[in-house]
Amino acid sequence: MGRAEKVVLAYSGGVDTSVCIPYLKEEWGVKEVITLAADLGQGDELEPIRQKALKCGAVESLVEDATASFVKDYAFPAIQANTLYENRYPLSTALARPLIAKLLVEAAEKYGADAVAHGCTGKGNDQVRFDVGIMALNPELKVLAPAREWGMSREEAITYGEKFGIEFPVKKSSPYSIDRNLLGRSIEAGPLEDPMTEPPEEIYLMTEAIANTPDEPEYVTIGFEAGIPVSINGNNLDPVALIAQLNQTVGKHGVGRLDMIENRVVGIKSREIYEAPALLVLIDAHRDLESLTLTADITQYKRGIEQTYGELVYRGLWYSPLKAALDAFIQKTQERVTGEVRLKLFKGNATIVGRRSPNSIYTPDLATYGADDQFDHKAAEGFIYIWGLPTRVWSQKTR
Ligand code: ARG
Repeated sequence: MGRAEKVVLAYSGGVDTSVCIPYLKEEWGVKEVITLAADLGQGDELEPIRQKALKCGAVESLVEDATASFVKDYAFPAIQANTLYENRYPLSTALARPLIAKLLVEAAEKYGADAVAHGCTGKGNDQVRFDVGIMALNPELKVLAPAREWGMSREEAITYGEKFGIEFPVKKSSPYSIDRNLLGRSIEAGPLEDPMTEPPEEIYLMTEAIANTPDEPEYVTIGFEAGIPVSINGNNLDPVALIAQLNQTVGKHGVGRLDMIENRVVGIKSREIYEAPALLVLIDAHRDLESLTLTADITQYKRGIEQTYGELVYRGLWYSPLKAALDAFIQKTQERVTGEVRLKLFKGNATIVGRRSPNSIYTPDLATYGADDQFDHKAAEGFIYIWGLPTRVWSQKTR
């Protein structure tokens, strides 16, 4: 008896997921491996990847274009929640995992598979996100993670694959581990493992080095409707086009890089380099528009929700009941977050220089320092008497 009869395997075309195909069959007694490659705007050609899975021994090789859903159902809610893990990482990789988990489960149900599989190792966050996402969506399915158990080095994995006729094109072997999708790139390993080593310029693909950025600033206006980005410079764009165009515009000015030491779910600290030009700028702009349209108490209370939300996403709890409950809160807050935010892009900075909204609750008559001031200054005195009373009493009794 094998570990499963029929398995749907998340497939990228890389070494690990390719080796998983014969490994599942030969070592774990799986009868049929169906692969699934998800297009999340990573820019890979998918037809060669589809073919490769078949060559590696898959009975069926599925390719799903999920880019639109990735942006609408995963990136946009995260923007509405202003999520930044540990106040910095916009979760560009993390957000893709629950969607891939969903595609795997749907395929397993459609093809009558009794398990799904992925190529993650035991050290990362992605295994947590896949496993928990899958068990949340279909607790009956088994989850197989060969690379978590096989104990092979990369070279050994290649040798193993070659035994089964898998060819690994001799491309310049990169020391880096890279994940990429429409939202960004995550780069780790190789020389980056020394936290003091400056990331070499060649690792960046979405963002320009400051030395090569334009010498003139560029202004960009982002329009939001109910907390969702809908336009750039007044032109309405579909979600995927909006992210793609903004990545270009912003990346060209060297905006969107991050270099951080991050705390993984499994307790390891890791050094991560990220590029996420559009996503970072959209979160910044969105948060700014909220400050114009939401009351003080909602704005401030929501910060705590955002923190929790970011941790949930990072830790693989996208399909958890707490996440669903927080979504309900966040959606309610977004109803009036409509308007425009203007940014100035220049030499690695995206500076917010203006915002406006038909729902603005900024009140010039109250804010002004000019003659038309409508604020009742005398009312402040009684307010401060009462506001400060506990502190005054405390001081009287204790000094
Ligand atoms: N640390 C990031 C995360 O957990 C990205 C990991 C991406 N994987 C990679 N091979 N670089 O979301």
